[in-house]
Amino acid sequence: MKTEWKGREAINNIKPYSPGKAINEVKKELGLDKVYKMASNENPLGPSPLALEAIRNNMEDIHIYPDGSSLFLKEALAKKNDIGIDQIIVGNGSDEIIKLLGESFLEDGDTIIMGDPSFSEYDYIGNLMGAKVKKVPLVDFAFDLELVLDNLDESVKIIALCNPNNPTGTVIEKEALIDFIERVPQNIIVVLDEAYKEYAGQDLYSGLNFIKEGKNNILVLNTFSKIYGLAALRVGYGMGSESLISWILRAKEPFNVNVLAQVGARAALSDIEHVKKSLELNEAGKEYLYKEFANRGYISSPSGANFIWVDIKQDSKKIFDALLKKGIVIRPGYVFGAATHIRVTIDKPEVNRYFIEMLDDVIMNDK
Ligand SMILES: Cc1ncc(COP(=O)(O)O)c(C=O)c1O
Repeated sequence: MKTEWKGREAINNIKPYSPGKAINEVKKELGLDKVYKMASNENPLGPSPLALEAIRNNMEDIHIYPDGSSLFLKEALAKKNDIGIDQIIVGNGSDEIIKLLGESFLEDGDTIIMGDPSFSEYDYIGNLMGAKVKKVPLVDFAFDLELVLDNLDESVKIIALCNPNNPTGTVIEKEALIDFIERVPQNIIVVLDEAYKEYAGQDLYSGLNFIKEGKNNILVLNTFSKIYGLAALRVGYGMGSESLISWILRAKEPFNVNVLAQVGARAALSDIEHVKKSLELNEAGKEYLYKEFANRGYISSPSGANFIWVDIKQDSKKIFDALLKKGIVIRPGYVFGAATHIRVTIDKPEVNRYFIEMLDDVIMNDK
């Protein structure tokens, strides 16, 4: 049929996001009973039990519109991070805040800088808003901040740094970050996307430090989708100066975060036990997988997150397909432009072991 309508030119440049395959989809497609999703960096321990309890206790209220400002959640976040309530924006996942950032800052003629490879939402908002996306290659799978500075020009409005980076897991060194933030012109917004911050622990120098020093051009992003285990609820938050946050808030929908997400996230914040267990599980799994990869001669990047980026020296598309048939979903590196890498989410010990067994199996059979 002939198309009569004409969409926005910018939409032409958008490649629809290809998420990690859903468990039910894989089960149905391949007729499998059991599928392990090691593709989207979710928490294998599941949601915080305190969050579940809070959600159950608030189910009766879903006929009422949620608090559009997520006030109680912001109060808890302000306390935890020791900043003002007006320095926080809560979103329908940090994805929403990334989109709001694009909508409130980018237009035709502007540039957003991101790493290559890095989190695709930054590519998406650049294209969506008709801006230019400049991808600065990582060096040894980590940000080279000198190279980022070399790429600055008058058109650059936003620099997006994922710290730790997705998909490589690498963390930016404190001194390099401080030096970089001092040298970036103040009219450029620097996003420090710290979705995996809890896993990085002491290794991470958080962008929150710059905000507390009074820097006006820093946006720090965090999420409840990772260590708090609430990915399906969709709740994330951004922190910055009051003026930056109030600017981004102008683009926000009135009721962007549902009530169950607000109460669940607030309860999860106080669930110290769940966070501790999740961290311990992740550390043990990371050590195990590092060792197994090293034993096989596969080089993995040091990870400050709940996933590992590893060179398995094989066509990642083939390995992805073969593992899928075994009921394991990973993220193949070719989607990030790295043909022989894979990104695998750290899971429970028995799942990690099964993954290694199946990886050996599919690699052996590929020879
Ligand atoms: C670096 C990074 N930022 C943001 C997100 C999005 O998180 P959310 O679920 O809060 O939208 C992800 C999700 O994988 C991520 O890896």
